[in-house]
Amino acid sequence: MLLEADGISFRYNKNSWILDNVHLKLHAGEVLGLSGPSGCGKTTLAQILAGYKRPHRGQVKLNGKPLPTKGYNPVQLVWQHPEKAVNPRWQMKKVLNERGPIDEELMKALGIEPDWLNRWPNELSGGELQRFCLARALGPETRFLIADEITTMLDPITQAQIWQVILQQVEKRKLGVLVISHEQPLLSRLCSRIITIA
Ligand SMILES: Nc1ncnc2c1ncn2[C@@H]1O[C@H](COP(=O)(O)OP(=O)(O)O)[C@@H](O)[C@H]1O
Ligand SMILES: [Mg+2]
Repeated sequence: MLLEADGISFRYNKNSWILDNVHLKLHAGEVLGLSGPSGCGKTTLAQILAGYKRPHRGQVKLNGKPLPTKGYNPVQLVWQHPEKAVNPRWQMKKVLNERGPIDEELMKALGIEPDWLNRWPNELSGGELQRFCLARALGPETRFLIADEITTMLDPITQAQIWQVILQQVEKRKLGVLVISHEQPLLSRLCSRIITIA
């Protein structure tokens, strides 16, 4: 399995290109880091890689083919702010299974307590909510995870727990992970390779 950004360019307005001919390759079982200053287009690239936005030039390819537009997306994005990534009118059990049933073992590993399933999003902390967002993204058909500053807002204990689970998934099912962060120590610790966009 290979996820590839092939010459991606993107702009929000006519004046300036945010992304200019970006290339990257992410292999199954690989943890790749992506760094760059605030505002350089990391989140934009994350959205393009997961199929939320279309590039103006270039293509995202999954094993040489365009991303599927129907059915389950094997490239899942987890966002920096979990509270913006869940429907506030849904109880957590509905949020969790939004894209299909989630493995119980994974929920345990993420420290999701069974009684949290009956809560509403505003009854959980940011760290608790992010665990749900990660579980939701790690359905059985997920092959690549795009992690866009997913632990930036969280306490160190939750951070460590979340990365441990992700690395277990890399080992267990050859998940490919793109770790987007401006924190160099985090990238150095987790990633076998780091690329920078300016
Ligand atoms: N929807 C949008 N419309 C116009 N400009 C945007 C939009 N989203 C982001 N931008 C701008 O694009 C640039 C890149 O943003 P972003 O991809 O969020 O960067 P990063 O994640 O690296 O901080 C920033 O200057 C930001 O203000
Ligand atoms: Mg960002």
